[in-house]
This record gives sequence, C-alpha cells and structure tokens, in this order.
Amino acid sequence: MDKLIVQGRRRLVGEVTISGAKNAAVAVIPAAIMADSPSVLENLPAIEDVRSLCHTIEKLGGHCSFQDAHTLHIDCSNGTAHHATFEEVQKIRASYYFLGAMLARYKKAEVAMPGGCNFGVRPIDLHLKGFRALGAIVEESNGMVRAYADRLIGTSIYMDQVSVGATINIMLAASMAEGITTIENAAKEPHVVDLANYLNMMGANIKGAGTDVIRIRGVEKLHGAQYTIIPDQIEAGTYMIAAAITSGDVLVKNIIPKHMDSLTAKLDEMNVTIEEHDDSIRITANRPLHCANVKTMSYPGFPTDLQPQIAALLSVCEGTSVITENVWDNRYQYIDELRKLGAQVVIDGRKAHIEGVPYFHGAKVSATDLRAGAAMILAALAAEGTTEIDGVKYIDRGYEDVENKFNALGADITRITI
Ligand code: EPZ
Repeated sequence: MDKLIVQGRRRLVGEVTISGAKNAAVAVIPAAIMADSPSVLENLPAIEDVRSLCHTIEKLGGHCSFQDAHTLHIDCSNGTAHHATFEEVQKIRASYYFLGAMLARYKKAEVAMPGGCNFGVRPIDLHLKGFRALGAIVEESNGMVRAYADRLIGTSIYMDQVSVGATINIMLAASMAEGITTIENAAKEPHVVDLANYLNMMGANIKGAGTDVIRIRGVEKLHGAQYTIIPDQIEAGTYMIAAAITSGDVLVKNIIPKHMDSLTAKLDEMNVTIEEHDDSIRITANRPLHCANVKTMSYPGFPTDLQPQIAALLSVCEGTSVITENVWDNRYQYIDELRKLGAQVVIDGRKAHIEGVPYFHGAKVSATDLRAGAAMILAALAAEGTTEIDGVKYIDRGYEDVENKFNALGADITRITI
C-alpha cells in the first residue's frame, strides 16, 4: 500500500507535459479488438487502467506489446474470446466497452459487470437499452451481462440522459451493425470524438461525433490502424488548478486549449492570469483569488471530473462559493477528507457551499476515488505543514507519474510503500 507524503506551501513553477487521455484510452483499447489486423496506439498514458485493459486483452487471447511506455501494439487478428468473465474485469469500469466491441465483431458478448464505485451507483441501463434497440438480446445475471444477436440492425436511438459510456458503447456496436444508426442527445466529450476518429481510421463510417447527433453507417469489417490518443483534459485541468492553488506560474503543455474552455473561463473569473498558446496554457496566479460558483455539466460544460479539484481551490479563496454537481448523484464523499485539512463546506443535496479559509493545514487523509485523490494532492500542496495521503492506488489509475510531475514543478511529494 502506497502513501504520498506532501510538504505544503511550495509555489509551483515551470512546465508540465500532459499525458494521453485516460478516458479516451480506455475506450480505444477495447475497440482495437474489433479489427482483423493489428493497431498501434500512441500517446497512451502510462497508468494502471491501461495496463489492466491490456491484461484483459491478453487473457482473451489477443496480443498486446508495449513498443515504449506510451505506444502499444494490439493484435487480435486471430480473434479473441467473446467472454470476459474473470474477476479482474470487474475492477475497471471501462471493461464494459468490451461488451460493445465484442457484440460488434462476434455478435455475442459476455462481460462481468463493474460494481458500484466510490461516488455511488453507476447504472448501465442506457448502454443495454441501446444494444437492445440494435436487435440484441441482453440478459443480466449474477454480475454478468450477456448480449447476443443473429444480426445487429441500425436504428434511431434517443438517449434519455447524456451518457459518455452509453454513447461510446452504442457507437462501438453500431459500427458493425447493418445499416444506419443515429444516436440523438449523444455525449460530446473529447474522448467520444477521439474514439470515433479511431474507428473511422479502422474503416468505420461515423459522422457527427462532437455534436449531439451521431450518425453511424455500419460496415462489415474493421482493420487495425495507427492512432494517437488526444491529451488528457482532466490531467491538464488538475495541473492548471495546482498552479492556481500554489500561487504558481506553470506552462501546461501538450494540450488542446479548446478542451479547457470551461475551466479557463472559471479561472479567469477567479482572477487567475491565463495565456493561451496553440497547444499549451500558461497559468499565473499572483493576485488574490475570488470565490466563484461552479455547475458541472456534460461537455462543453464544466467537467464533473474536475469538481473535487476546483472545490479544493475554492476552499482557500475568500468568500462563499457554491458548487452544483449535476452529473453524479453523490460525488461529495471526499468533502470529509477536505474538512480534515480545514475546509469549511456544507453539503445540501447536489450543492456544496464553500466558505473560503485563508489556508489548509496538513493532516492524514484518504483518496476516496481518483479525482478525490487529485483534490487531496492539490489541497496538500497549499497546506501549512505535512499531509499524508493514502488510497494512492486510485490516483495511480489515472495520473501518470504523479509525484515526479509535481516535484519537477517544485512540489515536495514523497511516495512511501508500506
Ligand atoms: C465517464 O463515466 C467517465 N469515465 C467519468 O470519469 C466521468 O465522470 C463521466 O463520464 C461523466 O463525464 C470514463 O470515461 C471511463 P456517464 P460514465 O455515463 O461514462 C447516468 C473519471 O474520474 N447514467 O456519462 O460512466 C449516470 O448515473 C471518471 O475519470 C445512467 O443513468 O458516465 C450519471 O449520472 C469517473 N444510466 C450520468 O448518467 C446509464 O446507463 C452520466 O454518466 C449510464 C449513465
């Protein structure tokens, strides 16, 4: 079990290079099993979730080999099993993308379902409804989902709620269905577009990804492709907020600034100085920061995956801020941990009322999930004294080389293994 020991109150200065997007990678890797020839995926983040998915493909009978830390060769030319029923599949939520991918290629799939997670129930009813609309029979029992069809037939699917996962899973299955599928009220997140771009390079015919209507003309076969994953919007946002919370001056490199619009607008409103370049953003925080209200929404709104991190920042801004979490029912479990560092927060349903305090003080805290863990690091960086963070395995699932990236900017973070 690893812990991070953070000595706070160090100003972050310098440059940080952002890794490939976790949430794109975890969709693109399962998609690679749909191809009858190898793919090469570049700019993958070196994180636990990527390693777990590769392991799953190996166990299914495909071949994965890393050409370097960020480049993966995946070969499933000879096919894979269509059942991912072993226990470790349940450990990573994105395993559910194997359902859409297997259903597309083999017209049958059986996948062990991911359990709940630390911020509450995460249903997949919309994914399954989409598969059924395409003509699959879907059965759920004993923690397994089984889907099969003689033929998948394109159709029009209206999503009751904007869902990244369901949009991606339906896009996967529909890519190899007969005829045309339209997904209305689709998610517009950058990783939805990234997956569509990869599938199109594999020979799929997908139009409209990034808008709320996606149109997919099914094809019979997909081939492998060489593809470069987009930069991670949430890792970038985490380092931007880190610069702000430490009164720092950081150039966040290898990003798509457009993906950061909702955050840059908020930081600007809070009195942070922002300089935008072609593929980087410089964040300078040398003036008192203002409180602000934040509402999370699907893209291009403010991402829920940056909600804990911005809560840490707002906790040390003068005045009262209100966060409204509109995506997840229960994404405030980490607030108890933030309170241990001195934050003053009152939760009222979907709203968090934050009364700014002058500074955090070090304490022992837990990363209760991935982004909560990121928020703990940010708060610890700004805290007086030493903070000990456990639950680091969550952070490692989504942040590459986390302590070294922060330390290169002047942070003082040590990892200890107990
Ligand atoms: C993706 O999860 C991300 N994960 C999450 O990031 C992110 O928080 C979320 O999108 C929202 O942006 C990955 O991409 C692997 P959703 P996903 O389906 O796809 C409800 C992180 O920290 N819903 O868009 O599971 C659901 O309960 C992770 O990197 C249904 O009701 O999220 C939620 O309220 C955590 N039925 C809302 O929709 C369904 O079938 C949005 O969820 C599916 C979802």
